[in-house]
Amino acid sequence: MLASQRDLFDIPRDVCYLNSASYSPLPLRTQEAGRAAVGRKGQPWTLDAGFANRQHERARTAAARLINADASDIALISAISYGVATAAKVLTVPRGSRVIVLENDHSSPVLEWHGRAEAQGFTVETVSQPTDGDWTSAVLAAIERSGAPSVGLASISSVHWSDGGLIDIEQVQAALRRQGAKFVIDATQSTGVLAMDVKRLDPDAVLFPTYKWLIGPYGRAFLYMAKRHQNGVPLEQTSAGRRNVNSESAVYFGDLAYVDDARRYDMGQRDHFISMEMASIGIEMMAEWGAPAIAERLGMITRRIAVGISDLGFTVLADRLRAPHILSLGLARGLPKELISRLAVENIHVALRLGRMRISPHVFNDEADADRFIAALRRILRS
Ligand SMILES: Cc1ncc(COP(=O)(O)O)c(C=O)c1O
Repeated sequence: MLASQRDLFDIPRDVCYLNSASYSPLPLRTQEAGRAAVGRKGQPWTLDAGFANRQHERARTAAARLINADASDIALISAISYGVATAAKVLTVPRGSRVIVLENDHSSPVLEWHGRAEAQGFTVETVSQPTDGDWTSAVLAAIERSGAPSVGLASISSVHWSDGGLIDIEQVQAALRRQGAKFVIDATQSTGVLAMDVKRLDPDAVLFPTYKWLIGPYGRAFLYMAKRHQNGVPLEQTSAGRRNVNSESAVYFGDLAYVDDARRYDMGQRDHFISMEMASIGIEMMAEWGAPAIAERLGMITRRIAVGISDLGFTVLADRLRAPHILSLGLARGLPKELISRLAVENIHVALRLGRMRISPHVFNDEADADRFIAALRRILRS
């Protein structure tokens, strides 16, 4: 199992940060790189001609490695909403078909389809949050519902952001494939912690940002597009997306054809010299540790908490139904008002998500954090 990596972060011992599903702290190395990068932008004449491209390709390669993609299958984007908008522009959803989304999923993999349904002639079907917590079975049942129109596409998270429910994307992909349906995976809450192999799975699009599990900055995210979809029209029309629109040649608009791979979908103004390197560093650290070792560590911590609070009456998803790194606690009567803020006063940071308490440790958390959380929760609930 991976050891605690707390020393690589700037986290005082009295801070118990269990909220990486919202946003993670930056490693010290990333902070230093950010400061150096600000200085570089302060003196742009020090940048050589190949600098920008090296930055883009380093980030692209690091992101690709996490999901076993080729670097050329990855577009540099700003946010999941941007990537879903790109995917929705490129992927054809047959008229009369259904688009599957999850109830209470994050808005980014959902809203784009609502906005397109009427004009494109498909319906959006929302899979209800299952009372038994088994998201995979609920999604499979929705896809295979007899008598329903065929499914054109599913746009779902691989781990549900609010209850931490795990969706078995292999089974969902197999069910979608039987109907010739496309699969857009919002892997925000899983990439880096749960392994994904796009060469084997073969989804249509996969998206993930850096500011949560990839211990990076805001504003940097990635879109994997399957090779069969690398011929679409990008969301934005940029010079970088074209074969030869070059301000340094005598003819500016030399060749307007799009570049041949997923780079055509890169966001406009992608030269984020400050945050791009910061993003790369976190992703590379995650890849070095490896998803299995990270998941094992985080699973140990969430299980320790689940066992430690098991007599307090919380509803908790069974281990086999939840992601190892997210624990979501609910109470039939609702969480006491101000529970989250009272924990925060004690420097214990968790999130309130849709009426439940979401606990999401990362590689800097340890058994002491888990035990402190358990003790504080007991004390607050008794008082
Ligand atoms: C599942 C999921 N998708 C997407 C996002 C963020 O989306 P965006 O990058 O569009 O802000 C979050 C943030 O909490 C999330 O949990």
